Amino acid sequence: MKIGNKNYQSIWLDESDPSVIRVIDQQKLPFFFETKELRSVDDIYNAIDDMTVRGAPSIGAAGAFGIYLATLEINSLTNIREHLSNAARYLIKCRPTAVNLFWAVNYVMKKLDRNTSSLSLSEAALNAALEICEIEKESCRQIGNHGLTIIEKISKTKNGEPVNILTHCNAGWLACIDYGTVTAPIYFAHDKGIKVHVWVDETRPRNQGAKLTAWELGQYGVPYTLIADNSGGHLMQQKMVDIVIVGSDRTTRSGDVANKIGTYLKALAAYDNNIPFYCAVPSSSIDFSITDGMKEIIVEKRDPVEVTNMTGVAEGKIQSVLICPEDTVAVNYGFDITPARLITGLITEKGISKATEKDIRKMFSDKFK
Ligand code: MRU
Repeated sequence: MKIGNKNYQSIWLDESDPSVIRVIDQQKLPFFFETKELRSVDDIYNAIDDMTVRGAPSIGAAGAFGIYLATLEINSLTNIREHLSNAARYLIKCRPTAVNLFWAVNYVMKKLDRNTSSLSLSEAALNAALEICEIEKESCRQIGNHGLTIIEKISKTKNGEPVNILTHCNAGWLACIDYGTVTAPIYFAHDKGIKVHVWVDETRPRNQGAKLTAWELGQYGVPYTLIADNSGGHLMQQKMVDIVIVGSDRTTRSGDVANKIGTYLKALAAYDNNIPFYCAVPSSSIDFSITDGMKEIIVEKRDPVEVTNMTGVAEGKIQSVLICPEDTVAVNYGFDITPARLITGLITEKGISKATEKDIRKMFSDKFK
């Protein structure tokens, strides 16, 4: 994506110093646009943990680069297999819900296991991490093309009025290396001259919608309106939402979708109001080994301080303020599960699938064992 005149990804290799991975610091946006350098497995872990880098595909790519950085830590005394397996285990456990982290780290590890070429371990790991970035970018482009057809169809029924799309959290390019899963169809529609308008859920507690999605859409020139998380139901009843599109951190083989906390409530409201509810899901976010989202997906619990406090900018500095009595007990679930029955369809890189095991299997037969 272009910021000013420069093209950015959310994460990349620093060509001038290949021992450095650079990320856009998502903790500072939209107030400050800064990049951060990551030089070690610990740096990668901490950046994923504190959400300097966040969003399922981006944390997958970060994990993959983490294995590359682990190969740079190898010296003559290192037990290589043990060192890399430890790094992989450490990185994977950093955030438990998004399957991309597990998938991407394992993708690199498998490439290293099978590396019989003349490439050094570091070269092979770097190639694999760069491949992950390209796979995710291409998936977003394809999701963009498939999602565009849905928006186009709705637009034809709107007599020149904009298509109102509601989204939750941030499944934009910051979350996905480039394009975004939810935003690619929106950008493609906007580029084609189709009128779109996005309702952006603020997405408490971390406000990824208010801070990141609003910023991304604004940069691209897509009209949007920020709403409090509780507004969606009312807007849907008033026929002010034509379609809901959200992302996914882990989707089961039967189509249950784990996404940012609050997604489920939007799905219920959409269902009650007969509004199409789509999840934009690259196959890297599908966990083909599980069937029951409610029972099998681990929902991350984060620090309650994200609930008791809010972070914003005051006097030119990012500050956190307490929003409840000091001794308040709070709990912070990061994700919820939307059952497949509430989902109109999954927009994948291979096309639009019903959220059923039968249809997912048809589309991704090679992934079912
Ligand atoms: O906790 P986050 O900000 O990493 O959660 C992100 C989301 O829930 C996104 O919707 C999801 O990762 C999909 S990104 C394509």
